[in-house]
Amino acid sequence: MAEATKRYAVVTGANKGLGLAVVKQLASDGFTVVLTARDEKRGLEAIEKLSQSGLAGSVVFHQLDVANPANIDSLAEFIKTQFGKLDILVNNAGIMGATIVDTDAYKAATASVIPFLKDFKEGSIESKGWPAFTRVLAKKYPDFRINCLCPGFIKTDLNFNAGNVPVEEGAAKVLKLAFLPNDGPSGFFFVESEVTGF
Ligand SMILES: NC(=O)c1ccc[n+]([C@@H]2O[C@H](COP(=O)([O-])OP(=O)(O)OC[C@H]3O[C@@H](n4cnc5c(N)ncnc54)[C@H](OP(=O)(O)O)[C@@H]3O)[C@@H](O)[C@H]2O)c1
Repeated sequence: MAEATKRYAVVTGANKGLGLAVVKQLASDGFTVVLTARDEKRGLEAIEKLSQSGLAGSVVFHQLDVANPANIDSLAEFIKTQFGKLDILVNNAGIMGATIVDTDAYKAATASVIPFLKDFKEGSIESKGWPAFTRVLAKKYPDFRINCLCPGFIKTDLNFNAGNVPVEEGAAKVLKLAFLPNDGPSGFFFVESEVTGF
């Protein structure tokens, strides 16, 4: 079992993009990080890349397809037995990630960010029915800080690198939320570091 003073984090969909950048920043900050990926080969390759930056010693791999309940149970058991606690969960896995060039998927992925940012600027997030699952979870678990974030238009494979914000900048916004104090806001939707009406 792990030491109580150590800090532990899990990042989902972390073999590339925003997730991998978040893993790097958490590991640099002293966390022991579980880098999860749905594909074991892609996950282990990501860990290999981290060894070049000297961070691999703080990162462990665990397979996780977020859409697979048995995978989720297995990860929960791993955390329980190996660490006995979890300080931060960054649920980053993007189900829209496209590995095959598909014009319609690309347009849908890009368009989903742009209409969201437009609704945010116009103050119509709530009336347009953007998901409120975060608020439901936050109410159910008042001892946790549970928030979600639109990090901006980040340059990753999700948008075929058409984004205008570097991945490190996006990851820094994620970490800002992850490091909220125990009495900080919960159940909110942040857009780039700003809280919305939600
Ligand atoms: N980039 C942006 O502009 C932007 C804007 C708003 C929100 N976001 C959100 O940011 C998150 C990260 O996206 P990204 O831009 O870094 O995209 P990305 O580079 O395409 O990465 C997506 C990651 O999610 C993983 N993934 C997809 N389905 C999964 C599943 N069922 N289980 C586990 N992992 C899964 C992918 O794994 P594989 O490699 O195996 O496919 C990949 O590691 C997503 O939730 C996305 O919606 C991004």
